[in-house]
Amino acid sequence: MSEDVGLVLLEPVLGEGGVVPLDPAFVAAAAARAKGLGALLAFDEVQTGVGRTGTFFAFDQLGVRPDLLTLAKALANGLPIGCLLVADEAPRGFVPGDHGSTFGGNPVSCAAAFAVCSAIDDELLASVRANGDRLLDGLEQLPGVAEARGAGDRPAGVIVDAGLDAGLVCLNAGPNVLRLAPPLVVGADEIDHALSILTEVLA
Ligand SMILES: Cc1ncc(COP(=O)(O)O)c(C=O)c1O
Repeated sequence: MSEDVGLVLLEPVLGEGGVVPLDPAFVAAAAARAKGLGALLAFDEVQTGVGRTGTFFAFDQLGVRPDLLTLAKALANGLPIGCLLVADEAPRGFVPGDHGSTFGGNPVSCAAAFAVCSAIDDELLASVRANGDRLLDGLEQLPGVAEARGAGDRPAGVIVDAGLDAGLVCLNAGPNVLRLAPPLVVGADEIDHALSILTEVLA
């Protein structure tokens, strides 16, 4: 990193690149280097935020607090929204009102975001962590799975192909990574059902 770096942007779990959780030691080193250079540290939590990894923010598990943080997607549970959070102590490049957007501040989306934030409590996050562990444990037992990765409720089994035809909605992240992103309210029985479908698909 050279002296002219102004901002370091990290995604706590690299999503489209194959669901790769960042090593906390790497994040700590990057944060220290950014601080040394006087650069801002930003986390892209568009995919990892709002409870997806078992804590409200993924950075809660990394021991590093960013200056800037982006959220979107799950924040309004499907309604269009995007947001940038700025830590109080971060340098003020702009203030509320500086940045305009045609569709920014949509009242319906904001109401949905408020409802989502109100619904995510310690009980729900504990269940996300428990179900995430259950899914990862199950994925590791499946035939053909080379590695199961994830954080909280966001696992990805590294397999060849699963096949939506079997009734399990899933997606890929790169050529050989199957990505599972169950809703935060998923139950243990649904996890077990998903695992049984994958067992059949992989047999
Ligand atoms: C990690 C990540 N960051 C940012 C974005 C952009 O989010 P939006 O489309 O809400 O602007 C996406 C969209 O898929 C994403 O996956």
